[in-house]
Amino acid sequence: MSRPTSRLLVAIDGPAASGKGTLARRVAGHFGLPHLDTGLLYRAVGWLAGHRGLDPAAAAAGLAMADLAEPGLRGDEAGQAASKVAAIPEVRANLLKFQKDFAAQASGAVLDGRDIGTVICPEAPVKLFVTASLEARADRRYRELRERGVETIRPRVLAEMAERDRRDSERAAAPMKAAPDAYLLDTSDMDADAAFAAAVAFIERKGFRPPGP
Ligand code: DC
Repeated sequence: MSRPTSRLLVAIDGPAASGKGTLARRVAGHFGLPHLDTGLLYRAVGWLAGHRGLDPAAAAAGLAMADLAEPGLRGDEAGQAASKVAAIPEVRANLLKFQKDFAAQASGAVLDGRDIGTVICPEAPVKLFVTASLEARADRRYRELRERGVETIRPRVLAEMAERDRRDSERAAAPMKAAPDAYLLDTSDMDADAAFAAAVAFIERKGFRPPGP
């Protein structure tokens, strides 16, 4: 295969606990690219709306790097809040430029989220849609929460995840869905190493290679 002339832009989408975040970080490290976890932007907006009483669209318009450092953003409460503000079209519109600018860097980039391959970077030469069964994702999240010392029960984790999936995929504004040309990676029976190997093999089949020494 001839070497592609385009820079490597990788769009990774998928539901919560599918493994897309870990995969995006590893792919970015392997190919020497900057990485943006776009879920963090929506989490920060949800946080500013819930904890500081800001209007979500205004919070999205004025989002600063420092807002992304709030430690509470990683938790499940922030995930639910993010999913709610993410359904507001003005919030999405106000976060668009930041994401598009990040994707336009000359170096290339890796972005992960829900609408990267469909709305933010439909031109990306590499698109991955990472998924796993609801059961497998709930098990992962439940184990992770227990390891962090969070008291919860598995049926609750599963119900909240199902609710978030539904909200993210049924909303009118940029719903979560695979781009028609996305590579579908079902990680239900895969560990992080296997998912990474499959993604790298797909990217290399497109002719991209990691930077040389
Ligand atoms: O990937 P995450 O779990 O951190 O995302 C939190 C929420 O943010 C998710 O439930 C939906 C929303 N989101 C979105 O609508 N579009 C994105 N590109 C990324 C996240």
